[in-house]
Amino acid sequence: MKRKSIIYTALSFCFIISVSFSFYYYIQAQKYDQQIDRSMETTQELPEYHFILIGEEMDHDYWRLVGEGAKDTEEHYDVYVEYEGPRRSNPDEQLELLDIAIKANPDGLIVQALNDDFLPMINKAVREGIPVITIDTDAPDSMRSTYIGTDNYNAGRIAGETLAEDTNGNATIGIITGSFTNAHHQLRVQSFRAALAEEQNIEIVAIEESNITRVTAEEKAYQMLQEHPEIDAMYGTSALDGIGIAHAAASLNIAKDDLYVIGFDTLPENIELMKQGMIDVLIGQKPYEMGYRSIELMLGMLNGKSIEKTHYTDVNIVREQDLIEKSDTP
Ligand code: BGC
Repeated sequence: MKRKSIIYTALSFCFIISVSFSFYYYIQAQKYDQQIDRSMETTQELPEYHFILIGEEMDHDYWRLVGEGAKDTEEHYDVYVEYEGPRRSNPDEQLELLDIAIKANPDGLIVQALNDDFLPMINKAVREGIPVITIDTDAPDSMRSTYIGTDNYNAGRIAGETLAEDTNGNATIGIITGSFTNAHHQLRVQSFRAALAEEQNIEIVAIEESNITRVTAEEKAYQMLQEHPEIDAMYGTSALDGIGIAHAAASLNIAKDDLYVIGFDTLPENIELMKQGMIDVLIGQKPYEMGYRSIELMLGMLNGKSIEKTHYTDVNIVREQDLIEKSDTP
């Protein structure tokens, strides 16, 4: 009995000792963490400016370049750039992100103004003292300070004129557009139509939207080509539409020479299809430059520089023979 109680006492003693050690080391660890935090606070200075850029889609090569351009300014200026967007194109989610960004009260916001719903949100930001620059897609009637990106009306006109020239003024056209409601795609279609309006032997017989997905672009192009076997030229207004058109044509065994395809953006997938002869022409944009210059413009503005209302980046017409030329990379 006595031996049992000695064992219990010894065990209890060991237990108390080990708990005390654990507690002691826990307190020491906490103190150490606090010291580190304090020393980081004193040595790490925050950049002078915090900007937020909200694009259409994170999981997209075009928007990746826009984001890279903007983020690369961190190496040359005293800025921190937060680059955000929905994973997949989703205007409602994009608007929500914009709302959250306004609440974060950054020094400036860079926003793709997809449609009219973005206008009140842009104005709200400006009224709250946050300057806004639109990128890729403009909202000229909003209170934004300036726009950086393609002149989308002009780009659509160039596409129309190029098609007319390449087909010698003879074509039956189907259009796949990114979205019927997105401002830049509307402009790219309007000006394309206008450029071809006077052509006697060119007709646009169908138009469908892809919702910025290559799968829908392919489905819509497939249906269209089946319903309109007379189509011998197709125009895709967003980066993924040309890809969908090319794949649909391949599934329907349409010979490359029997379908002229003109699309947007010199992204790797588009270039590959061009090399295979499945896309004839690409209207190249400058997404990296848009991102980089949007931050420079914002900095200029915040430092009292007067800036123009629009800053159009170049577009170029790319054909297979031009592929050796440098693409839009840093
Ligand atoms: C447009 C972007 C769009 C992308 C979609 C580009 O041509 O400029 O706004 O997000 O296509 O694929």
